[in-house]
Amino acid sequence: MHNASTDYNSQQAAVQNVTILGATGTIGVQTLEVISQHPQRFKVFALTASTNVNSLFKLCKKHTPQYAVMLDANAATELTAQLKDANVGTIVLQGEHALSEVAAHESVDVVMAAIVGAAGLHPAMAAAKAGKRILLANKETLVMAGNLFMQAVADGGATLLPIDSEHNAIFQVMPSVKRENLADSGVKRVLLTASGGPFRNASLAELQAVTRAQALNHPNWVMGPKITIDSATMMNKGLEVIEAHWLFNAAPSQIDVVIHPQSIIHSMVEYIDGSVLAQLGNPDMRTPIAYGLGYPDRLHSGVSGLDLVKIGRLDFSEPDPIRFPCLRLAYEALKVGGTAPAILNAANEIAVEAFLAEEIGFMDIHAIIESVLLASQIDAVTSIEQLVAVDASARRAAKDWLKHKYSSMPAQTLKVVIK
Ligand SMILES: NC(=O)c1ccc[n+]([C@@H]2O[C@H](COP(=O)([O-])OP(=O)(O)OC[C@H]3O[C@@H](n4cnc5c(N)ncnc54)[C@H](OP(=O)(O)O)[C@@H]3O)[C@@H](O)[C@H]2O)c1
Repeated sequence: MHNASTDYNSQQAAVQNVTILGATGTIGVQTLEVISQHPQRFKVFALTASTNVNSLFKLCKKHTPQYAVMLDANAATELTAQLKDANVGTIVLQGEHALSEVAAHESVDVVMAAIVGAAGLHPAMAAAKAGKRILLANKETLVMAGNLFMQAVADGGATLLPIDSEHNAIFQVMPSVKRENLADSGVKRVLLTASGGPFRNASLAELQAVTRAQALNHPNWVMGPKITIDSATMMNKGLEVIEAHWLFNAAPSQIDVVIHPQSIIHSMVEYIDGSVLAQLGNPDMRTPIAYGLGYPDRLHSGVSGLDLVKIGRLDFSEPDPIRFPCLRLAYEALKVGGTAPAILNAANEIAVEAFLAEEIGFMDIHAIIESVLLASQIDAVTSIEQLVAVDASARRAAKDWLKHKYSSMPAQTLKVVIK
C-alpha cells in the first residue's frame, strides 16, 4: 500500500464527505476501494443500495457511514436489525426519496452517482440542484434527460466529472475552455473507443444463438450485468455517444466510434491541426474514479502501471452497424432528439432484463427497441415529470412486445421533433 500523504496536494485538501449511490454495485465497491486509500481526504457519509442487504451491511460495518439507504422497505428493516446487532451506529433510511436526500444533504461534498439505469435520474438531479461535485457513472441520467440535467448542474453550481472511462478520457485530454464550446474550440471530433465486446468477431448467425452466459463474459471489463449486456450489443457505446453529446456539446457528426479490442486507449480527441490526443491506461475503473475524486489533483488508485511493451500492439477497426444495430439506433435517437433517447433507454432496459431472464434471444434486444421507438410519439423535452411518464410508457410498450411479439406494434415512422 502506498503512503497516501504523498498524493499531490493532498495535505492541503479538507476532508470531503462522500455519498455513494449504488454502493453495492461494481462502481460503488471500486469507489470505496479508492476512498479507503485516502482516509485523510475522504469520509463516507452515505451508502445506498436497492435490495442487497448483506452487501450493504458489510460495507456499513467497514466504512461506518452516517446514513445507509435501502430502496426496498423489507431490506431496510433487515439492515436496521443487522446493524443494531453488530453495534454499528449508521442510521437506515428507506425509499426513493431518501436516495435524493442523501445526495443533496448539506453535509455532502461529493456524490458518486452509480445506480444502474433510469432509477439513478432523480438522485443525480437532486445532487445537481444542490451544487455537489458529481461523479457521474450513471450514463442513463444524461441519455434520458441530458438537457435538463446539464441545466440543473449549471443552475445549481455543481461540478460534473464524467466517470465512464471514455468520457473521463476525453475530459482529461480536452482543456476546460474547449470542453465548454466544442464548436469554436479547434476540436474536429471526439473518438469513443469500444472493445467490441465478446461478440466482436461473431457472425450474424452466431449472434442469433448467443446465450446469457456468453453475453455476460466480457473480455476486458468486470461490470454489472446490465452494462455488460449493453456492451455485448454495443448499446453501451450508443448510450455513450448520447452522453458525449451532452457532456461536450458535440454534434452527432462530431462523435465517432472506433473498435479497439485491447481497451488501453480509453478515448481520443482529434483537433483541426491533425493532432489526436488520447488517454491510456489498464482497463480498470479505479483510474477514472480516482481522477474524479481527486480532480484537479492526481490520487493513487491502486491500478497497476501500463506496460505497453508487454501489450505489444493496439488494434483499431470500424464498428459494424449490421451486426450491432443498437449503435445505429442510439445515433438515430440522438439525431431525432426530444424524448427519443429516453424511449430508447427505457425499451433497452426492459429488453436487457428479458434477455437476462432468458425470455428473449440476443437479437430480439434491438428489435424491441426499434419497434418501441417506431411506435412512439416523440416530443420536445419539457420536464422531468414528462420524462418519467415517457419512460413508463416506453416500458409498457416494450413489455407489450414481449407478450405479443411484434403483433401489437403498429408500423410507423419515427416522428421527428424540432429540438
Ligand atoms: N461497471 C462499470 O465498469 C461501469 C463503467 C462505466 C459506467 N458504468 C455505469 O455505472 C452505473 C452502475 O453500473 P454497475 O456496473 O456498477 O452496476 P451494478 O453492479 O449492477 O450496481 C448497481 C447498483 O445500483 C443499485 N440499484 C439497482 N437498482 C436500483 C434502484 N431501482 N434504485 C436504487 N438503486 C438501485 C444496486 O443495488 P443492489 O445491489 O441492492 O441491487 C447497486 O448498488 C451504470 O449506469 C453503468 O452504466 C459502469
